[in-house]
Amino acid sequence: MSTTHELNLTVNGEEWQLSVKGTETLLEVLRKHLTLTGAKSNCLEGECGVCAVLMNGRVVNSCILLAAQCEGAQITTIEGLANGETMHALQTAFLNRGAVQCGYCIPGMIMTAAGYLKENPAPTEEEIREGLCGTLCRCTGYTKIVEAVQEAAQTMGAK
Ligand code: FES
Ligand code: FES
Repeated sequence: MSTTHELNLTVNGEEWQLSVKGTETLLEVLRKHLTLTGAKSNCLEGECGVCAVLMNGRVVNSCILLAAQCEGAQITTIEGLANGETMHALQTAFLNRGAVQCGYCIPGMIMTAAGYLKENPAPTEEEIREGLCGTLCRCTGYTKIVEAVQEAAQTMGAK
């Protein structure tokens, strides 16, 4: 029998108190308890990156993080990235560059890029490719994604 934990979490600026099972992952809490389905569920082994979110500003694969390990954390998901009606520079750039095909990897890709650009706000193309290498896209061939992250970095740097 799995134990239940009381969990305090701030997600996209909103505070939550939740009862979660000891075996539940952060991804399950986001998708099932909070119905935030932007973070996707795929390999569940930390290999593909489609479940990426920011935890205290750093990129994590939410499928391999037990929710109970996230007590008191600040989580940002793709749903919380925009500023009200104003899209984040990454979201705008992905649209501008036509970097989205089926879209399945895109929330994880954008959250990974958002975390990466905090650490390296002016990356080279090669650095962007390295920064995104943990997020797998089966559709795009990555060129437009990399261009979009470059565009967003320029936009964000110009502010
Ligand atoms: S679903 Fe989390 S890394 Fe693949
Ligand atoms: S756009 Fe389809 S998996 Fe990346």
